[in-house]
Amino acid sequence: MPALVLLGAQWGDEGKGKATDLLGGSVDYVVRYQGGNNAGHTVVVGDQKYALHLLPSGILSPGCTPVIGNGVVVDPSVLFSELNGLNDRGVDTSKLLISGNAHVITPYNVTVDKVTERFLGKRKIGTTGRGIGPTYADKINRVGIRIQDLYDESILTQKVEAALDGKNQLLTKVFNRRAIEVGQVVEELLSYADRLKPYVADTVLVLNQALEQDKVVLFEGGQGTLLDIDHGTYPFVTSSNPTAGGACTGAGVGPTKISRVIGILKAYTTRVGSGPFPTELFDEDGEALRRIGGERGVTTGRDRRCGWFDAVIARYATRVNGLTDFFLTKLDVLTGWEQIPVCVAYEIDGERVEELPYSQTDFHHAKPVYEYLPGWSEDITKAKSFSDLPKNAQDYVKALEEMSGAPISAIGVGPGRDETIEINSFL
Ligand code: GDP
Ligand code: IMO
Ligand code: MG
Repeated sequence: MPALVLLGAQWGDEGKGKATDLLGGSVDYVVRYQGGNNAGHTVVVGDQKYALHLLPSGILSPGCTPVIGNGVVVDPSVLFSELNGLNDRGVDTSKLLISGNAHVITPYNVTVDKVTERFLGKRKIGTTGRGIGPTYADKINRVGIRIQDLYDESILTQKVEAALDGKNQLLTKVFNRRAIEVGQVVEELLSYADRLKPYVADTVLVLNQALEQDKVVLFEGGQGTLLDIDHGTYPFVTSSNPTAGGACTGAGVGPTKISRVIGILKAYTTRVGSGPFPTELFDEDGEALRRIGGERGVTTGRDRRCGWFDAVIARYATRVNGLTDFFLTKLDVLTGWEQIPVCVAYEIDGERVEELPYSQTDFHHAKPVYEYLPGWSEDITKAKSFSDLPKNAQDYVKALEEMSGAPISAIGVGPGRDETIEINSFL
């Protein structure tokens, strides 16, 4: 039975939350495998709108078990406020499972994220300031705190000491900040232990047993392919692996179990934070995409940078993730343009380049080569099948599919669950 991965094919905010929620009613588990509360996934159910950061979007589907895998970084205070917010709105969150091996975002990780960005000045990454990078750095440096450490005060104290020894030197001597006290951090972390306890589980075992019993498991990526620490536009990336392989390491499920990898692809492109973005628009078209598409960050409230569709990036996402399908979102936002530019290749130092260059310098120099596709003016938000779309919208979708290297199996024509055209079933 299927294990599906659903991930961002661009720079995040493609509509992963909506797509996950759509499938949530038909799957048994929805698993976050990387990232943390840097994510902001919007789900619209009827007249209700939910913004999820750390919780898997499956939490809104009653039959589904939401899982926070070992690869995620968890800020307990954020988790609790998210759970409280959902409980206040009548959402049952009692089925949530959290890996005991997931790392904890500590208050000092958040501090280090903010001061590092400040010191980078105009070279900053534009992080969400949620402590994501420093927490993953601690994990790789083997001085991280895991959820399971909250249940052994002596081990926790030793680990916080180890983590703070070097950091306090840095904070006081380089960053001119006050040292952080071990005792205070330990006390705060211990205060989360009791409330977390009922959720903590051996999620690797749970998920593998579920797959053996033919249950359906959906892995929900945070961020996107171009924000991947290995395959993205480094250093302007996040500190985890949103790409398909991340689902295996971040949840403890082998690659042979994964049957389908769905790339969520916006019908145009957006990016939040710093870094190269070849099709970025600085004119009234960019402003219109931002306004019509509601392109404002769910997590930080920053305006998203907007640009035309980039097929070079879509092809790259197909390749590095082994995509089997695309879910094309926000096609409705493009209604009303007479013609729609689509980037089919780059021009780099006078040469036409069809594939994403591995060299950062080249990518910074990449200029989009556009093809112009005819637009449409009819309202498409009520379209239920592909044939309901105006001819030019159908041709736009077919052209994107041709350029991107995987079939487009669903199309979003609005934020709601039912504002979706299903072409091939995902299950
Ligand atoms: P995520 O981070 O990938 O889950 O995406 P975000 O939630 O940050 O941003 C996507 C935004 O687009 C949200 O406000 C969604 O409600 C909205 N959305 C998703 N799919 C569609 C669609 O097909 N059409 C329109 N108009 N909005 C959509
Ligand atoms: P979802 O899941 C868009 C960006 C930040 C910054 C870079 C590093 O909603 O698609 P970080 O705080 O992760 O160290 O910041 O990554 N970023 C996102 N951009 N959508 C997201 O999540 C993002 N999560 C991080 O803006 O450029
Ligand atoms: Mg988002």
